[in-house]
Amino acid sequence: MNIQSILSDKIKQAMCQAGADEQCDALVKQSSKAQFGDYQANGIMAAAKKLGLNPRDFAQKVLDLVDLTNIAEKTEIAGPGFINIFLDKNWLAENLQLALQDKKLGIKAEEIQTIVADYSSPNVAKEMHVGHLRSTIIGDAVVRTLEFLGHKVIRANHVGDWGTQFGMLIAYLEKMENEHASAMELADLEAFYRAAKEHYDNDETFAEKARNYVVKLQSGDEYCRTMWKKLVDITMQQNQHNYNRLNVTLTENDVMGESLYNPMLPEIVADLKAQGLAVEDEGAQVVYLEEFKNKDGDPMGVIVQKKDGGFLYTTTDIAAAKYRCHTLKADRALVFSDTRQSQHMQQAWLITRKAGYVPESFQLEHKNFGMMLGKDGKPFKTRSGGTVKLADLLDEAIERADKLISEKSTALSAEEKAAVVEAVGIGSVKYADLSKNRTTDYVFDWDNMLSFEGNTAPYMQYAYTRIRSIFSKANISNEQLHQAQIQLADDKERLLAIKLLQFEEAVQVVAKEGTPHILCAYLYELAGLFSSFYEHCPILNNDDENVKLSRLKLALLTEKTLKQGLDLLGIKTVEKM
Ligand code: ARG
Repeated sequence: MNIQSILSDKIKQAMCQAGADEQCDALVKQSSKAQFGDYQANGIMAAAKKLGLNPRDFAQKVLDLVDLTNIAEKTEIAGPGFINIFLDKNWLAENLQLALQDKKLGIKAEEIQTIVADYSSPNVAKEMHVGHLRSTIIGDAVVRTLEFLGHKVIRANHVGDWGTQFGMLIAYLEKMENEHASAMELADLEAFYRAAKEHYDNDETFAEKARNYVVKLQSGDEYCRTMWKKLVDITMQQNQHNYNRLNVTLTENDVMGESLYNPMLPEIVADLKAQGLAVEDEGAQVVYLEEFKNKDGDPMGVIVQKKDGGFLYTTTDIAAAKYRCHTLKADRALVFSDTRQSQHMQQAWLITRKAGYVPESFQLEHKNFGMMLGKDGKPFKTRSGGTVKLADLLDEAIERADKLISEKSTALSAEEKAAVVEAVGIGSVKYADLSKNRTTDYVFDWDNMLSFEGNTAPYMQYAYTRIRSIFSKANISNEQLHQAQIQLADDKERLLAIKLLQFEEAVQVVAKEGTPHILCAYLYELAGLFSSFYEHCPILNNDDENVKLSRLKLALLTEKTLKQGLDLLGIKTVEKM
């Protein structure tokens, strides 16, 4: 259930009855302070102003008309015309009951859409590095959330699998094969790429062959195609290994690389020319955009085809937008990539719209993110200044988690410990990223992310195991729990109850905005409210059996919500730690 939208709809209806127009918005928000109630409607003043009425009078009129029977225990007008809403305990209890009985914890599917999520998107013959980490884990959390809400999600791993560098890579692969290189040698993609480049720069015969292979590959030559495919496969096998370790849902079947759009590109450029959008400039095809200015203040030129006939990253993204709308029949397409690509995405999509390739209703959204920085505030690098390989980073995470868990949890069997180390190690790296607002840069700091205090994976995972341990001590059957009524007598119980019922609000923001940090913040607050409830409200050593069962039910829903929430983030939980 979404309390905010229930209240919003009801108050808006009353506002309209009281004379406001259909466009009005009740602006219902969770209250920031207990004295303002649980929710507050802030839209009265603007609507009253439009009608030329006194806001407090208008608020009173709305309150006379609105039907919040059973939902609100009390409403009041505050300040210049805010409406404060205090929710009814029985209504809360009833809805908690419904959430407990529901597999999806009472969360309703919204209007179902087909949504393409373009994320991870590493490049062929290059090792995945930390730069791809953010895209992969933020994208995957959003995808999980969208699917949970019932949407049909198409994962599109927009792998960089095309470009002139493939001539050189094929020529080098051929050379290595002739020299019977081992699988090991091929596995080090960074070294492979570097060696290929070195040959290309220093060996004219090799370079000649490489240039020849580019042309052949582009014209569909079978040998070059096969060699190209080998390079893609070797890369994606390694990436898949990273995805599995990261508990990311991408599979080989989700690869929709840049090459997929090749056949569409000549047609698109021809059409842009025919529409007068693309014009020739020094042999290249260029679209001038009024909306973007170059440094001289003139419309910025975006090249869609080079002088030598080659197409560009932008051309591919125009094709991808078209394909996602018409071939995949999506309603919405999200791209998770670095903020430095924002202008590129906006330009590609502006051209897509100007050319009329997608209808107005088709949503194109760049879910951009900032950089991962080292503790020195500079882009995250190895000690020697190289790019950090994702695989190495994950090895280090496991190592550090192992040390931490060995110190903290000594009562675990070897098998249990291994599971905890994995959940905490990988979970910490992911949660540290997910819990920050994605649009800003963030500092990657091992000590912070592995701390048992604060908004971290270990804290959340530990909070979950604490509730599990209450149940392992409780000795209560599901039947007994099921029969029991929830009662919200104590203030701590009430606060926990409301937070539990706000899960859907958090989930829906993540789905709409692509901001997993909202869910992290929600879960962190939930864990905090549970802690203070647990401290003040005895559960197992309570003489009143009804109170005990009611509190156990609150604990149970907290446990389920934490688990479900962490699962949406792609963070594993364990039973003990
Ligand atoms: N391969 C690109 C990179 O490594 C990211 C692709 C993002 N998606 C897109 N449709 N442009 O930077």
